[in-house]
Amino acid sequence: MRSFALVTFGCQMNQHDSERIEEVLGRAGLSRVDEPALADLVLLNTCSVREKAEQKLRSEVGRLGLLKRQRPELLIGVAGCVAQQEGERLARSMPQIDLVVGPDNIGELPDLLRELDGGGPPRVRTEFDLDAPRFLEAHPTDAPRSAFVTVMKGCNERCTFCIVPHTRGPERYRPAREVIDEIARLVAAGTREVTLLGQTVNSYADPEAALGPAPGAGELPWTATHPSTARADESEFAALLRAISERVPDLLRLRYTSPHPRHLTMSLIRAHQELPVLCRHVHLPVQSGSDRVLRRMLRRYDVAEYSERVARLRASVPGITLSTDIIVGFPGESRADFEQTLALVQRIGFTGTFGFKYSARPHTPAQKLADDVSEGDKSERLAELFALTDRLRRDHLTALVGSTQRVLVEGLSAQGGYTGRTEQNEIVHFGSRAQRVGQIVELTIARAFKNSLEGRESDATLSAPLPERRGARERAPSARARSLPVL
Ligand code: SAH
Ligand code: F3S
Repeated sequence: MRSFALVTFGCQMNQHDSERIEEVLGRAGLSRVDEPALADLVLLNTCSVREKAEQKLRSEVGRLGLLKRQRPELLIGVAGCVAQQEGERLARSMPQIDLVVGPDNIGELPDLLRELDGGGPPRVRTEFDLDAPRFLEAHPTDAPRSAFVTVMKGCNERCTFCIVPHTRGPERYRPAREVIDEIARLVAAGTREVTLLGQTVNSYADPEAALGPAPGAGELPWTATHPSTARADESEFAALLRAISERVPDLLRLRYTSPHPRHLTMSLIRAHQELPVLCRHVHLPVQSGSDRVLRRMLRRYDVAEYSERVARLRASVPGITLSTDIIVGFPGESRADFEQTLALVQRIGFTGTFGFKYSARPHTPAQKLADDVSEGDKSERLAELFALTDRLRRDHLTALVGSTQRVLVEGLSAQGGYTGRTEQNEIVHFGSRAQRVGQIVELTIARAFKNSLEGRESDATLSAPLPERRGARERAPSARARSLPVL
């Protein structure tokens, strides 16, 4: 077997898994091709969070089955959440499938392929690595400017709509030492920005207990959260962020996704206030603006708690932007509940919103609730939500026209110029005669589009000289210092 094609559905976690699959297969001597028609193995890395995933997979496998009829030696594999969720059943119900491999079994792919090489029945490996969690490391030959690094996997929350605890298993954390080493290696190879990944990334605790308590840990200024609950919300995530910032001083930008609002603790807020490397943007899924719906979703916070934490974060980190996830049409969501969601979105002023129609998922508690909001109402609510969030976004982007922004240049844009992101996560396009990829440039914002900005290079374009950054950090940043354009 010499070549493979890989088709990826779903979230950043899956994207990241696909990169690891590519590396594992690459080390086993296989090369990647884009066209399934040219591959000896086609792997579908699936997602089951929302859409009718099995149906989609079925039609994809059907299409590949036609290829297999012409080339019986073609192997078809299924990876990701549908593989984990359905296991043996997939191979039984779709005879074209040769291989089913769960997210924790990616490292076993070469062995499974060797077994399959000799013919024989389909192989299925969907075991969670509960006793000895493995985290596949990035071994990039060409380090991306912006890289993802996993810090934990699985989820211990039980949000009633969500299939992730079923498909990704319980929380397992990666030693801080390993996370830091991986980031240091990536940065040495040219990576400028790292996004830490985890389902509830800010519940992190170091399994080797090598991190001390972070400043702010145990501070409980909350009026909306009971102290005993708030104490249980503390984690070691802020300590991990501080350790990364200290041990990898050449990293330019650090982000994370997705945090759970209940772990937005004072220690994390203090980290945002004091670490220049942390970007001034947080994706903080709220799901609904109705306490009744939040309770039925088992989100473990109410609107007052969410709002209080966001207010603290904003007061500590001026200019920080927030984006969110919203589900419309959760079972029992009334028009009045939905209007509370609109009111919350407006009040918080999210600059980016991912909105989804509720879809009942197998193996989730909410499946037992009647999916009683009609498809028409769900579509209408989603359209209303998007009308509001588009307006908020446009207002936000328009207000940036004329300002100066520091942009990390990630690559070339479709229009032939460059494209990058501000610290607050706005996308900026601009033209330059110089080579800018991988640099931080200072741009004056000239125009706002629907979802992005157009920038112009100012005279003093910076390529992020490292001594300046170190200096910036040594200036014991306060809330005020943090708002100065020093990065
Ligand atoms: N904590 C995870 C959440 C994964 S699911 C993370 O890292 O992002 C991503 C988003 O999909 C959720 O925040 C939620 O808004 C949406 N979602 C999850 N299950 C859903 C369902 N059954 N129907 C509609 N949307 C859903
Ligand atoms: Fe899903 Fe809730 Fe965990 S949305 S990933 S169960 S925090």
